[in-house]
Amino acid sequence: MTQQHILSGDLLMFAGDPFHAPPKETVLIETDGAVLIENGQIGASGARSALLAAYPQARHHAHPGKLICPGFIDAHVHYPQTAMIASWGKRLIDWLNTYTFPEEMRFDDPAYAAEISARYLDLSAAHGTTTMASYCTVHSASVDAFFGEALKRGQRVVAGKTCMDRNAPEGLRDTAQSGYDDSKALLERWHGTGRLSYAITPRFSPTSTPEQLEAMGALWAEHPDCLMQTHLSEQVDEIAWVRELFPGARDYLDTYEQFGLLGARGLYGHAIHLEPREIDRIAEHGASLVHCPTSNTFIGSGLFDMTGLKARGLSVGLATDTGGGSSFSMLRTMAAAYEIGQLKGTALHAGQLLWLATQGSARSLHLHDKIGALDVGMEADIAVLDLASTPAIAQRYGNAQNQWDRVFPTIMMGDDRAIAEVWIGGVKQVG
Ligand code: GUN
Ligand code: ZN
Repeated sequence: MTQQHILSGDLLMFAGDPFHAPPKETVLIETDGAVLIENGQIGASGARSALLAAYPQARHHAHPGKLICPGFIDAHVHYPQTAMIASWGKRLIDWLNTYTFPEEMRFDDPAYAAEISARYLDLSAAHGTTTMASYCTVHSASVDAFFGEALKRGQRVVAGKTCMDRNAPEGLRDTAQSGYDDSKALLERWHGTGRLSYAITPRFSPTSTPEQLEAMGALWAEHPDCLMQTHLSEQVDEIAWVRELFPGARDYLDTYEQFGLLGARGLYGHAIHLEPREIDRIAEHGASLVHCPTSNTFIGSGLFDMTGLKARGLSVGLATDTGGGSSFSMLRTMAAAYEIGQLKGTALHAGQLLWLATQGSARSLHLHDKIGALDVGMEADIAVLDLASTPAIAQRYGNAQNQWDRVFPTIMMGDDRAIAEVWIGGVKQVG
């Protein structure tokens, strides 16, 4: 038996979807609680005194007044964009051509891919993120590097080779056939190894020919247990370009749908400017949308309709979209989701924001039987939040009137200084 650990503090627990029932009934803060970590999982949870009495041999990590959360789950990132995050002044297509594609070219070098994989996983862990779904680059080496680094850390990650066979520079393009072959080889090498899973990853319709999209659809049909991740309706100019490139398609989603790239395990990043037909089809298939709020404001994409889309019953995950997003922090991302909610006329509750960054993202990745909650049997991926991590937050915490009032300033103003400890697979990695 491995060393048992008890983490005590206030526990963030879920009893339902806070967009379908009142947040105060579905997202609960259990004060003076504790979780037992054993064999990489949560072995027990409950009142602090009861757990300490039941497991006297466990090592106790006391976090009085801190919030013990499931590790944050970032449902859409581009780890290869780590070194060019916060690049100035461009909108989506110019931003890709000016900053993103030149940086992604560097990942044909396995040593550079390994260096950035480690840097990205260090940075995201320091911000409390324990799982992410990442795009890699067109190079197989970029996938091997990322999965290899995550495997060393015992981390649950989803990733895939970004496929592009047009409208990208020489050196970043594959072909319909090589994209299929390389993706298949990577999938067979990594999917299900340790805590790793493969996502079939056509970047977006503008950078894939119909032949490539068809090949991606065929690969997904052969491996229906894999996720498929792509981008959808992020900017108005992009949508106009898709219309030109696919004159026969009913809308943007149809450029995926007609090639078998719409399904329950599909993840559609951004999804801001959706047509009613697209929303209907996504709902019918039970596919997931991924909201990337800091990216949407940074690149100037638009305002995601969280309330309307959740009311339609859609599955929505939350993500940084590093490096189109301007932060590695899911706290900053929750803050941006709140701000976009305000601009759309709805103030999202702190419980809704924390649910999106953990359970909502876990559901979108179909991993909610393993991560995204602190229930017994879940994998022990945990972030401990200091709710008074800076003088500005501490003074606001000090005059808070209730539990949620104590949490919300950290959501709005917190950063990596608020991350007191991070546990990944039952091993302390930060703090
Ligand atoms: N659309 C296609 N590729 C990308 C990307 O790398 N970032 C963002 N934000 N949107 C995209
Ligand atoms: Zn993206």
